[in-house]
Amino acid sequence: MKTDLASAVEALRAGKLVLLPTETVYGLAASAADARAVAAVYAAKGRPSFNPLIAHVADVAAARRVARFDSRAETLAAAFWPGPLTLVLPVADASAVCDLARAGLDTVAVRAPAHPLARALLQAFGGPVVAPSANRSGRPSPTTFAAAVEETGDSAAAGLDGGPCEVGLESTVVALLDRPRLLRPGAVTRAEIEAVIGPLADAEADAKRSPGRLARHYAPDLPVRLDVEIPRPGEAFLAFGPARHDRLFQLSETRDLAEAAANLFAHLRAADRSGATGIAVAPIPHEGLGEAINDRLKRAAGFVG
Ligand code: TXA
Ligand code: MG
Repeated sequence: MKTDLASAVEALRAGKLVLLPTETVYGLAASAADARAVAAVYAAKGRPSFNPLIAHVADVAAARRVARFDSRAETLAAAFWPGPLTLVLPVADASAVCDLARAGLDTVAVRAPAHPLARALLQAFGGPVVAPSANRSGRPSPTTFAAAVEETGDSAAAGLDGGPCEVGLESTVVALLDRPRLLRPGAVTRAEIEAVIGPLADAEADAKRSPGRLARHYAPDLPVRLDVEIPRPGEAFLAFGPARHDRLFQLSETRDLAEAAANLFAHLRAADRSGATGIAVAPIPHEGLGEAINDRLKRAAGFVG
């Protein structure tokens, strides 16, 4: 696999796939305009059904060519871009994002990532790029280049090694179709968004609009138990706060939610292959980033209907 920027740009132009580092997680990228390349992304991930993808762009000017921006979208983009916030908006008239990438919807998800290598690639390529998390469908998202290569590297012609992802959790997805709705909690917290545009309605009230919210998702192979104070012998333990255990994976000894988010998927992966009988996870507070962490943990355990 080629690992330089020029080869990655060339791969996108040729309709091939690229492992793309972002500040949240690694993505499996393709030109959003190229339906065959987008189909190859779905196939590489083994997505059970077509689930719309996020169009990644270099900046807000590029986003306006893809989606119809209203004043709320302008305000949120000004506050959080480049960064881990995805906006679901009506698709623009001459949008380059193909139907398949949008799963046939008349809406489109768009974000401008902050990672310098992602920005460099988007600028050099010059068009929107789809990039779902680079894991095979249902598995934890990769937060290192090595994990991304292991998950979907076979299908990529090029990949950029951007080091470990700073945030470690996917972007927050907000729909601005009627009233603002939180479709997926993520790296930008609900409180941070509400401080800018006021109250967010919940996705649950609008399940049809968030097709990607599968019950079992982000899941390792081993069974996962949540809210565990004392793990069983043989289990791997994802701790939050000081703890002692044989197979200990410390999310954050000082109970720092940002540190726990950054460690979450890498620890789930490591625990999965530690030879344990199962994975027990300590209780994590629900405030701030804890909302997104608990969302991913519930799905890893298969608890969301
Ligand atoms: O942090 C991230 O967002 C990462 C990095 C690589 O950028 N990408 C990512 O993509 O998490 P993916 O495909 O795993 O998640 C996209 C989410 C899904 O839940 C999908 O259903 C939702 O966005 N989505 C995309 N387009 C949508 C649309 N038009 N309407 C509603 N939801 C949409
Ligand atoms: Mg994903």
